Amino acid sequence: MLKSYSCGELRREHAGRRVTLAGWIHRRRDHGGMVFVDLRDREGIVQVVFNPQISDEAYKVATSFRNEYVVQIIGEVALRPKGTENPRLPTGEVEVIAGKAVILNESKTPPFYINEDTEVEESLCLRNRYLYLRRQRMRDNLILRHKVTKFICDFFDARGFIQVETPILIKSTPEGARDYLVPSRLNPGKFYALPQSPQQLKQLLMVAGLEKYFQIARCFRDEDLRADRQPEFTQLDLEMSFVEEEDIIQLMEGLFTSLVEAVKPDMRILKPFARLHYQEAMERYGTDKPDLRFALEFKDISDIAAETSFDVFRSAIDNDGIVKGIGVPGCAHYSRHQLAELTDLARSSGAKGLVTFAFTEGSVALDETKSVAARHLTQGQLENIANRFGIKASDLLLIVADKAPIVNKTLDELRRYLARQLNLIDTNLLAFAFILDFPMLEWNEAENCWEPMHHPFTAPQEEDILLLDTEPTKVRSHHYDVVCNGYELGSGSIRIHTRQLQEKMFSLLGYGEKEMEERFGSLLRALEYGAPPHGGIAIGIDRLMMLLAREQTIREVVAFPKNQNAVDLMFDAPSYVSQKQLDELNLKLKHEIIK
Ligand code: AMO
Repeated sequence: MLKSYSCGELRREHAGRRVTLAGWIHRRRDHGGMVFVDLRDREGIVQVVFNPQISDEAYKVATSFRNEYVVQIIGEVALRPKGTENPRLPTGEVEVIAGKAVILNESKTPPFYINEDTEVEESLCLRNRYLYLRRQRMRDNLILRHKVTKFICDFFDARGFIQVETPILIKSTPEGARDYLVPSRLNPGKFYALPQSPQQLKQLLMVAGLEKYFQIARCFRDEDLRADRQPEFTQLDLEMSFVEEEDIIQLMEGLFTSLVEAVKPDMRILKPFARLHYQEAMERYGTDKPDLRFALEFKDISDIAAETSFDVFRSAIDNDGIVKGIGVPGCAHYSRHQLAELTDLARSSGAKGLVTFAFTEGSVALDETKSVAARHLTQGQLENIANRFGIKASDLLLIVADKAPIVNKTLDELRRYLARQLNLIDTNLLAFAFILDFPMLEWNEAENCWEPMHHPFTAPQEEDILLLDTEPTKVRSHHYDVVCNGYELGSGSIRIHTRQLQEKMFSLLGYGEKEMEERFGSLLRALEYGAPPHGGIAIGIDRLMMLLAREQTIREVVAFPKNQNAVDLMFDAPSYVSQKQLDELNLKLKHEIIK
């Protein structure tokens, strides 16, 4: 190889050794007639000294070094002179005294700093991704990702799981997003769909008798992108036969606990893992993916509000709404400006406004509580409200009155905003939680139909099956989510494993017999051949990595991500194709496209 050691591995014990290094010029300093270079490779950085007294030839080469030149250096490892050690570098006790230097390749000046983690405009960063990936943080993220997927493979291998690759060119499998379609040249007019997940395939592997399957699987979804969504992403996908919810939950607890201990010992897991019923999560946190690193729980005061003469409360209750709020410790002193900010945030979440109570004096007296609502309440009603929140001296109360979805969404936004403002978030903490007992179905207003809360293969809870015919809204399913720090990390369920029940579910969702056969015929037929009871889960690897690497978006843990418009700026994909390619695929573009 062109090198005998990596830059980052040199330590005190290597002093006196002759080494050949190869890497990139991270930084160059000219100082007292000598050149000092920070030489970087994947493993880290080491200082190299070019002294004309030792090698004039090497010194001369070094004077032409520029940042990001790729060079080879032969030299001797030496202890740094006393007082010049760099405790911030793992190699900081040593330096390499260069005897020979070769420029392997020059570099243009990069469009942004590689040696500093300064912000880079997004398109510049995505277009020059290979340069951005040279940054230490990004390299560390990719290395961590490798360790995580390696750990996962070993973990499941040790527990008897078989890794199976499933096809990428398949048929639409519903996960709630649009499909990416691929035209078929050999079958004119027909399209493959890229898998939104390997859902039906992993169920078919259970029918095939594999019993325990897992895969680090690539999934594709054409949906609106966000900080935690990419059009293509990776799942840890798994499925098991002869299991109940509890088996999958315990398996996941074991995985996350041992994974974090192995790859992220500086992070702590909140234990035991929380378990919340869907309904409970909505009541206490207004979301099915609560961040449990901090409290700020909601309390419902609809019953008290209904008794008051305060219009805002009364009209919400009269319109089938609710009144709920958050008690914020020690924030009664918030200024008019700060309260206006909170109100703006509430309005941008869809609420009509925000009712605040500032318990300034620490007593719950009407005339000492700052609130527009105070004069519409009796002393008793105010005390009841304060008691429900366990109000203490100088607390602030934020109340929203509206339809439940708006109240929950608004308070969820406020809760997360306040936690950041008040520094309540321990960034070393991973607060996992399982959300259980999801409703089976939700009503889609726009389309005027039922939709599965998870996907149509999820089994209803046995004691609720009869309600499918009478009160579908009340049916709870065997769907569970695992959430962490406010993100949905994974979803899974125990599946329907009989044709009869699966057909019933499809027809409830509005599929006719023909459509059922066209879309799900293979799965329905498979269920007739001794399909075992089975269930599974899929964990978003990108989201897991984002949390482990303490990043704000999954783009920072994906090597080559796409931008908000699903465009790969580096390769300029998607792109137009030639008329010849369109002809081969029997495709004709509907609109004239200006190229
Ligand atoms: P679900 O659709 O909930 O379930 O997906 C599972 C997990 O995949 C991740 N995820 C995404 N990550 C990045 N970008 C996206 N666009 C994206 N969409 C989803 C999330 C999510 O929790 N087949 C079922 C699983 C099962 O039932 O076993 C499924 O795919 O972390």
